[in-house]
Amino acid sequence: MATKHILIVPGDGIGQEVTAVGKKVLEKIAARFGHTFTYDEALIGHVAIEATGNPLPDETLEKMRKSDAVLFGAVGHPKYDNDPSAKVRPEQGLLKMRKELGLYANLRPIKLFDELLGASSIKPEILKGADILFFRELTGDIYFGEKGRKNNGDTAFDIAEYSRYEVERIARKAFEAARTRRKKLCSVDKANVIETSRLWREVIQKIAPEYPDVEVEHQFVDATAMLLIKDPRRFDVVVTANLFGDILTDEASQIAGSMGMLASASIGDGTGVYEPIHGSAHDITGKGVANPLASILSAALLLDISFGMKAESEAVISAVDQVLKAGFRTRDIADQQTPADKILGTEAIGEEVLKFL
Ligand code: NAD
Ligand code: IPM
Ligand code: MN
Repeated sequence: MATKHILIVPGDGIGQEVTAVGKKVLEKIAARFGHTFTYDEALIGHVAIEATGNPLPDETLEKMRKSDAVLFGAVGHPKYDNDPSAKVRPEQGLLKMRKELGLYANLRPIKLFDELLGASSIKPEILKGADILFFRELTGDIYFGEKGRKNNGDTAFDIAEYSRYEVERIARKAFEAARTRRKKLCSVDKANVIETSRLWREVIQKIAPEYPDVEVEHQFVDATAMLLIKDPRRFDVVVTANLFGDILTDEASQIAGSMGMLASASIGDGTGVYEPIHGSAHDITGKGVANPLASILSAALLLDISFGMKAESEAVISAVDQVLKAGFRTRDIADQQTPADKILGTEAIGEEVLKFL
């Protein structure tokens, strides 16, 4: 019986639609397991800019710091995507949140539910049993270095920077996770070209002897992009820098069938933030078809990692599994065999998950 305060930060586009479902799952878990969860809501992204002029208002940040965990949706709006000159952008809110809360480790589990073997564009025999845990570094790299223009705006630059300390703390998290899994760690970099990658590789090599039970390999990011599709089962834990992790996990979402299936946990020293890896998806916003399972699975990570509620977390994952076993799909994970009456919208598939809780 625990009392916890959860901040819901839906953000933009389908972020609003999917976090509403994620929240319902948390409410159901609290009722079933006798916990008291209290909720508050806060603005980020485009909706925050519209209301306050600021993509991450101080009030939101304060509420985040004071809560036990954050369930986050997505940020982004086509208005800014198509206006490279915009100075204030929704994504700045997300990046500032990560930096301010010290969320340096982004865990992105890529686990294929067996029922979705047919939903991926990769052959089932290549995919079956794929189970990868990505550790994406989240507060460094080209994302946070100096950026700007020179030569009257005709030249642009972004500085990528990593300190030994930043690499080491994410690497240790990944090594420790590998210990609890199949004891394989793949470190991904571009050390044949990039200096931050050379530091990255140096740090991994230096601390690897402290984890003799973990088998370490180094791969270049370009080869990794290929290997993920060729043989996804060869990976167990993968650790990589911010930008490489961003790109590789969108690619890896296809192993799990869809972007709409991929949850993530952003953790550091303070409040943890739980967020689907997908964005605001304005192409489907307002249509009621967004897959809320990534938000629901993010809620499962929240229960496990921030609250230490293993049974509750597993109940959520099992409910998702049963909904898929019952044949229900959202449009993004349906295949040619899916009967039309089994293809549900955002709220309806959420209701099916609640039934199994
Ligand atoms: P996106 O993830 O929003 O969408 C990519 C594709 O996947 C789209 O076709 C979309 O319809 C589909 N998709 C994504 N989530 C889905 C779901 N839950 N169910 C069904 N289909 C889903 O990426 P994008 O189109 O490149 O970016 C759109 C906006 O989102 C941009 O402004 C971008 O900056 C932002 N973005 C935000 C985050 C975040 O907040 N964490 C992540 C990625 C992109
Ligand atoms: C993600 C997104 C963000 C990132 C963007 C929107 C800043 O793509 O959460 O994966 O690149 O980290
Ligand atoms: Mn991304």
